[in-house]
Amino acid sequence: MAYAEEIRRRRTFAIVSHPDAGKTTLTEKLLLFGGAIHVAGAVKSNKIKKTATSDWMEIEKQRGISVATSVMAFDYAGHKINILDTPGHQDFAEDTFRTLTAVDSVIIVIDAAKGVEAQTRKLMEVCRMRKTPVIVFVNKLDRDGKDPFDLLDEVEEELQIKVRPLSWPIDMGQRFKGVYNIYEKKLDLYTPSKQYVTESVGFKDVNSPELEKHTGAPLAVKLREDLELIEGVYPAFDVDTYLKGDIAPVFFGSALNNFGVKELLDCFIRIAPSPRPVQALERIVDPEEENFTGFIFKIHANMDPNHRSCIAFVKICSGKFERNANYRHVRFDKMMRFGSPTAFMAQKKEVVDEAFAGDIIGLPDTGNFSIGDTLTAGENLHFKGLPSFSPEMFNYIENADPMKAKQLNKGVEQLMDEGVAQLFTNRFNGRKIIGTVGQLQFEVIQYRLLHEYGAQCKWEPLSLYKACWIESGDAEALENFKKRKAQYMAWDKEGRDVYLADSSYVLTMAQQDFPAIKFHFTSEF
Ligand code: G4P
Repeated sequence: MAYAEEIRRRRTFAIVSHPDAGKTTLTEKLLLFGGAIHVAGAVKSNKIKKTATSDWMEIEKQRGISVATSVMAFDYAGHKINILDTPGHQDFAEDTFRTLTAVDSVIIVIDAAKGVEAQTRKLMEVCRMRKTPVIVFVNKLDRDGKDPFDLLDEVEEELQIKVRPLSWPIDMGQRFKGVYNIYEKKLDLYTPSKQYVTESVGFKDVNSPELEKHTGAPLAVKLREDLELIEGVYPAFDVDTYLKGDIAPVFFGSALNNFGVKELLDCFIRIAPSPRPVQALERIVDPEEENFTGFIFKIHANMDPNHRSCIAFVKICSGKFERNANYRHVRFDKMMRFGSPTAFMAQKKEVVDEAFAGDIIGLPDTGNFSIGDTLTAGENLHFKGLPSFSPEMFNYIENADPMKAKQLNKGVEQLMDEGVAQLFTNRFNGRKIIGTVGQLQFEVIQYRLLHEYGAQCKWEPLSLYKACWIESGDAEALENFKKRKAQYMAWDKEGRDVYLADSSYVLTMAQQDFPAIKFHFTSEF
């Protein structure tokens, strides 16, 4: 096929981390290497600063920025790199989870001093579920951090994935000397004040006395010992095992100092997957198929309240997308044409005539799309794999302005389509419950309902532990459970049965008392 080459040269991935580990800094350095930007500091952090909770304009501004940095594409060494940005703030974790459904691989950044943190654990869970290949970048080696072997143990244990170092730090903090690139057998030396690789020496054999000349005797001895230990303890690196999501290669460096980043990128383009086949309900879709298919994984509202238009982000799963061609919106069973699809090159957004599997395009949307919608050249196809996770916080939503009930309903519906939060309807009393990952989302919803829809809402706290999607092969047992737990049963937006457990104890008891029922914490099972 004429554009198979185009597809194979694409690398679509996300960089994820716990806030402050260095995701933004690493992204920026990658863009610098790709020539997509020319000065450091050009990429604005997509994270919503902690202080912003009470500063609405600040949040709005930052949400605006995050559109620009949603996808950053550039060419590097013959490859087309698509980096998908993810919100740093954990209250928007659901957004990040969904973005992970649109990438073919992931780079996880870990702070060498802090090790594996809460958010990293959660993100890795999603990668594991989807068997996404993962590379780990241990950052901030220019500061004192944990022992590298301890860090590797921690990653294996906490993230439940086998690791294999492909580079190795020579000391750290003030004494940081550089990294030995195991993958390319190269020694990269670092001088702190210079803030970049000052010397790169190829090494066929680390036992050569040359090493001493560069690092001094004690560090040379230590490096040899470390490398020997690595070879003894960790399995040899195998690309296929990485591609299956069973082993994570690990790189060490300092993003801020631009150190270890090029090594990471050079290895990344060689081993990271090109667009992978995607599972649809009906069949597996191969990226190199002739016909276009894609799905919406994110909807971003325009911040201008006068134009309630959004951008729907489409991950192209197969073939070639063309501007002004007719495509089928499967859920509506309607053909649509898109006159101004946009692509994202570094920080610019521009109209494109064509895009290929692996690419992300933005389609202007006036409420036609909902997260998870499939677009095709005509086929009746539904992409799977946009799971909803149980929210962590729940509130009843009440109308605070009886004259605006219609606006409220419409606003809530559209915001849920955008994936801002999850809506459940209590079967017992018909009341609407909004579930979120963090408090900030309730504030965003309230603000947006007022400013975009002219509707006012009130929250009534609801103390719940988890929303569990339930199923059972035994229809009678399922009915019996629903009857017994009638007050705690709800429907999600798609009408699926959800059990709202008010404490972990109650949930454990329910699991014990109703062995025929399966309880899921995600809606995709
Ligand atoms: P995030 O997107 O993962 O939240 O992290 P971000 O890149 O914003 O980095 C968080 C902080 O860590 C920043 O400092 C950044 O400069 C610093 N940092 C990133 N990489 C390194 C590194 O390799 N070494 C050291 N020492 N620091 C690093 P900040 O003071 O919070 O922000 P800023 O004022 O520097 O932007």
